[in-house]
Amino acid sequence: MPLDVINKASAREKSIRHGHPSTLHLWWARRPLATARAVLFASLVDDPSEHEDKFPTPEAQQAERERLFEIIGELVEWENSGNEEIFANALAEIKKSVGEDLPAVFDPFAGGGTIPLEAQRLGLKAYASDLNPVAVMINKAMIELPAKFKNQLTNLSAAIAARKVLPMIFSTTANF
Ligand SMILES: C[S@@+](CC[C@H](N)C(=O)[O-])C[C@H]1O[C@@H](n2cnc3c(N)ncnc32)[C@H](O)[C@@H]1O
Repeated sequence: MPLDVINKASAREKSIRHGHPSTLHLWWARRPLATARAVLFASLVDDPSEHEDKFPTPEAQQAERERLFEIIGELVEWENSGNEEIFANALAEIKKSVGEDLPAVFDPFAGGGTIPLEAQRLGLKAYASDLNPVAVMINKAMIELPAKFKNQLTNLSAAIAARKVLPMIFSTTANF
């Protein structure tokens, strides 16, 4: 695993103040998104040594491994969190190993929701639960509700942009 690049991206997240789940609600045991993203990807994508038919020599396997590490390196960058091309590419790599029938990810101790959020971002079905009702609320707000109302929100944003809807709720805080 390209640990240096994963560690660097994970450490950098501590200082990100815009758009990061840590700004939604304080959670004392929040795990870095970059680490979860890398671990989920690496758990699902086979090491090239599993496919000696395609990569028969140690050199060919290492070259393929380096290519996969580059994908991880791109994935873990915070700025790439919304990059559809990079995530589509990552999902295509996952499908090469697991097929079209993607496994779901279940985090029974989801806490701040890092693992289900990143599973969902990678295109997997994500399940989360927790003993603590605050954690359940964070997961609902961050994972369940945005996915459920994604299309309505897109339509609403487009309507606001086209001035078909008056953004009353924002009018006291934002300058339209
Ligand atoms: C270290 S935190 C999880 C961190 C989380 N993976 C993240 O990325 O933010 C452990 C979580 O396990 C939950 N927990 C502890 N015992 C539990 C139990 N018996 N059943 C369900 N959740 C439990 C705690 O409420 C806490 O949110």
